[in-house]
Amino acid sequence: MKKIAVITSGGDAPGMNACIRAIVNTAWQEGIDIVGYRHGFRGIVEGLSQPIHPDDMRLVSQRGGTFLKSARYPEFQRDDIAIQAAEQLDADGVDALIVIGGDGSFRGAHHLSKFWSKQVIGIPGTIDNDLTGTDVAIGFSTAVDNAVEAIDKIRETAEAMARVFIIEVMGRRAGFLGLHAAIAAAAEAMILPEIDPQPSLGDLADNIRQARKKFPDGSYIVILSENLWPGGVHGLAENLSQATQITCHPCPLGHLQRGGRPNAQDRILATQLGQSAISAILSGSSDMMIGFANEHVVEVPITRTFTRDKPLDQSLVDLQFSLQGVNFTSENG
Ligand code: F6P
Repeated sequence: MKKIAVITSGGDAPGMNACIRAIVNTAWQEGIDIVGYRHGFRGIVEGLSQPIHPDDMRLVSQRGGTFLKSARYPEFQRDDIAIQAAEQLDADGVDALIVIGGDGSFRGAHHLSKFWSKQVIGIPGTIDNDLTGTDVAIGFSTAVDNAVEAIDKIRETAEAMARVFIIEVMGRRAGFLGLHAAIAAAAEAMILPEIDPQPSLGDLADNIRQARKKFPDGSYIVILSENLWPGGVHGLAENLSQATQITCHPCPLGHLQRGGRPNAQDRILATQLGQSAISAILSGSSDMMIGFANEHVVEVPITRTFTRDKPLDQSLVDLQFSLQGVNFTSENG
């Protein structure tokens, strides 16, 4: 084993830089060179490689984003493009590839392994935390912190002005970020893709009216996962404003959830997974994800990870449902 390549792919996630540092420094100790391709799979196809030396890694762990750059690259689903990538990796003398990313990136990693006989390893890096087989992904914890910090700020102005806010969080098709943010921010309501049945517009409107009756001077916050309600956060705010005759303010949190310094938890996770990815390669693993489950580093077949069937923690869902709105919907005792 002489040379390992690494890419960051898809939506960036805070902690990716700390992961690259762990990969580079661990490989260096084993006498292995690391090369990075900029902009994910596209960078492999276009030959955008750069050697990475431990000296370059001294000050990267605390930075958000990814210094290697990332990209969405749906073209990689095509066989001819994956074959080009395999040829480029061979031309560059690469013995193994580490892909840090989410489900689309892992599909790409698996697709590549059909045309490239060398080892391919995935490390979960996505604020959506929706990969099966790992309890956590790099970036999720920081994204929750980012969302909660923003919601706390909205809470202050909402409370000052006695306003209702509908706050949209990311997650693509998963409610992990929404659930954790709703609990931490003590939201009055949450609407997530996994909740079945979804609360009806009538129920939400009744709840807001009840809250307004009990606390005419108070705030009310609904957490809404993206890509869920027709018309998104603006659609729901409009529907609720009409139903309640109370102005409901839409607020999409957007990409501020994804940027910023990774928190300590994400840096530690990223460092563990980066080092373990090198060990997995040295022990011969391929087409596997190196994840973290039940407090341990685990290896999971990559094809198992992008099945989109990872459940929310039901005890957390129940916790939020049992506490949200208790102040205005029930009598003491
Ligand atoms: O997958 C991470 C994520 O931030 C999702 O939560 C969101 O739906 C998507 O990426 C946004 O993608 P982009 O930054 O390409 O618009």
